[in-house]
Amino acid sequence: MKRRFLSVLLAGVLAVSMLAGCGGGSDDAAETTTETTDAAETEDAAEDADAADTEAGGGLVGVSMPTQDLQRWNQDGSNMKAELEAAGYTVELQYASNDIATQVSQIETMITNGCELLVIASIDGDSLGTVLAQAKEQGIPVIAYDRLIMNSDAVTYYATFDNYLVGQTQGQYIVDALDLDNAEGPFNLEIVTGDPGDNNVNYFFGGAMDVLQPYIDEGKLVVPSGQMTKEEVATANWATETAQSRFENILSSYYADGTQLDVVLASNDSTALGVANALAANYTGEYPILTGQDCDIANVKNIVDGKQSMSVFKDTRTLASQVVKMVEAVMQGGEAEVNDTETYDNGTGVIPSYLCEPVIVDASNYQELLIDSGYYTEADLQ
Ligand code: BGC
Repeated sequence: MKRRFLSVLLAGVLAVSMLAGCGGGSDDAAETTTETTDAAETEDAAEDADAADTEAGGGLVGVSMPTQDLQRWNQDGSNMKAELEAAGYTVELQYASNDIATQVSQIETMITNGCELLVIASIDGDSLGTVLAQAKEQGIPVIAYDRLIMNSDAVTYYATFDNYLVGQTQGQYIVDALDLDNAEGPFNLEIVTGDPGDNNVNYFFGGAMDVLQPYIDEGKLVVPSGQMTKEEVATANWATETAQSRFENILSSYYADGTQLDVVLASNDSTALGVANALAANYTGEYPILTGQDCDIANVKNIVDGKQSMSVFKDTRTLASQVVKMVEAVMQGGEAEVNDTETYDNGTGVIPSYLCEPVIVDASNYQELLIDSGYYTEADLQ
């Protein structure tokens, strides 16, 4: 796993904020789509693809997203579809309801329907080996979207945000917010991460713990529940309700006597929302520092209301644009632009990757980063 100097990294994160990104972006990404593709649309897509192939040199691209339950995947799916269509491709877009078997069968159908390239955000990184072997046999390239697909040699490229940096950013935010280098402490910390089948969890959790562990070792940070292993802090499917019920148990077992909870490391916004819900119902002390990731609307509202401290913003427009560039390069028989050829080994070798830059959002800059940039409207946050 990548380790770099934190100060340089975090200065970089802040400096790039709106300037760097990793691609262009459409202006309407904030809208939450409820699109699904049914069988009839799929047939239409295949027919359209033949027409598009001859007219615009496009082709049929399969886009497989994990679920519509979380805001971000709706945005990712609709951004990808819109951008690919604007570039002349026909798109078969499917959401898999967080069910592995559904995702496998949707991908099988994409292959049967003649998709010439697959873009896949996996539910479980380890469960697509067999279906992707079929893709490889038929010469269909695969781009892993946001989450790395593990143990498959069918993966051509990977595009994501710098996941290790996301975790480090959350960890460093906590260090700065509690002034851990100067304050005496000890401060009480609890940890909530995501689905253990999502390879990103290793990077989010690993990056954050690389920053926080020295303070735990020193005794400045204490975890009253003692829950610190990847398994203990996991949240199946990243579900808000699951995070909430685990956190309710933690609050009743370790904080009911008035013990102050100072800080919660939550890896993303769906789990941070579970923590915030549990706190609202069961905790009367001073609100803890609470991290997140994605800038989901409910969480940005919580940031504005002082119920969540920060979120790591990963502009889904930026990732979609970068992946569309990859698709175009591969479909034209060329090589895609990458900026990391070391970090993401999926068990069959390092997958050439493009890592976009994540950015911290908090109450002081959400207006500029989320509203002025056109990601959300004021009305979205009412
Ligand atoms: C993504 C996060 C998201 C989480 C839950 C991760 O793989 O990188 O942005 O919050 O999945 O869907």
